[in-house]
Amino acid sequence: MSKSVLLIVSGGIAAVKCPDLIRRLGEKGIRTRCILTRGGREFVTPLSLAALSGEKVYEDLFSLSDESEMGHIELSRSADLVVVAPATANILARMASGLADDLATTALLATDKPVMVAPAMNVMMWRHPATQNNLQILKDRGVMIIGPEEGDMACGEFGFGRMSEPMDIAGAIEGFFRLEGHLKGRRALVTSGPTHEAIDPVRYIANRSSGKQGHAIAGALARLGAETTLVSGPSIEPAPTGVTLVRVESAHDMLAACEKALPADIAVCAAAVSDWRVASEAVSKLKKNGSAPQPLELVLNPDILATLSQPGNQRPALVIGFAAETDDVIAYATKKRTSKGCDWIIANDVSPQTGTFGGSDNTVHLITADRVENWPKMSKNAVAEKLALRIADVFGQSDTDGN
Ligand code: C5P
Repeated sequence: MSKSVLLIVSGGIAAVKCPDLIRRLGEKGIRTRCILTRGGREFVTPLSLAALSGEKVYEDLFSLSDESEMGHIELSRSADLVVVAPATANILARMASGLADDLATTALLATDKPVMVAPAMNVMMWRHPATQNNLQILKDRGVMIIGPEEGDMACGEFGFGRMSEPMDIAGAIEGFFRLEGHLKGRRALVTSGPTHEAIDPVRYIANRSSGKQGHAIAGALARLGAETTLVSGPSIEPAPTGVTLVRVESAHDMLAACEKALPADIAVCAAAVSDWRVASEAVSKLKKNGSAPQPLELVLNPDILATLSQPGNQRPALVIGFAAETDDVIAYATKKRTSKGCDWIIANDVSPQTGTFGGSDNTVHLITADRVENWPKMSKNAVAEKLALRIADVFGQSDTDGN
């Protein structure tokens, strides 16, 4: 595997495990280049990291010799993955707030590569709501978290906060690289967001969907290497990296854009498509005119999920729908899987008290032909990552680039 890691070593006692981590990565054919923070230097020497990685160790944002060798922006993008190990409570907080006050945090802010952190700290620091909030912020941004583990700590206390063992961190890094290109050569189509169905040039029928979940899924599939088209209704979510975004307004336009994006191997219909549209959109703004309100005549919209699920040679091999329900979630969703003709349904409870619509978290159930999996409550980003890995499993080890 010809991959490389930018390892940021921050100031915790677990930094002494970094030489072992570098050695284990090397055994797997993964090259390491290190950034050592001021705190990290108290626990491990630049010389030992340089000796094991075979690379210069970078320490200072304002060092002319470091900058002339490799500027900090270039350094932040020089590897395939950025790993912070150990990740202290302090560096996690600085990452969460977007600080860039040393080389490590500047590189973390400037990088366009995926980031993995291996937290290491005292159990009380780990449990502190500030740390847990920071972790949530990082998770929601797609940062991967390894550990920590439960055990005896250098400070004499016992509990969660021990950095994962180098063997496990190296295994997680290897696993990430193995799955990274898993969907290479596959095409994915994802729908996201609400639709707007025009009543007249000013008014429309809409719903509360934010597009967060669909956008996150498109991003996760793209990270696994799928050539991904995201067809999105009006949403303020930013376009995920590496995705072709097609913006639409109405269900009709969404279906047309989806059909244009075919053929695809994978279709994930996460959009909250309006079931109805106004029979004839008024050309001019409707007026009150002091008369009684005119009822809106509605007609049924096309069902994009059902259309994509229809047998035929354009049918994606795996079609996944969503079922947003407010009661009897699993029973309704199971019926929906068969009535729509899709392969999997992701069922979620969107009753107002769950805060799912517009919120960052989701509690979902994956319903396939033969089982129901109840996933714990997690961020929409985490749901997306997990779903993308499940999709990658279906397509086996495509391994087109020999990873
Ligand atoms: O029928 P219902 O709207 O509950 O089904 C939800 C699923 O169907 C979602 O995956 C949604 O994206 C999809 N859908 C669609 N086109 C519609 C209505 C729903 O693709 N017109």
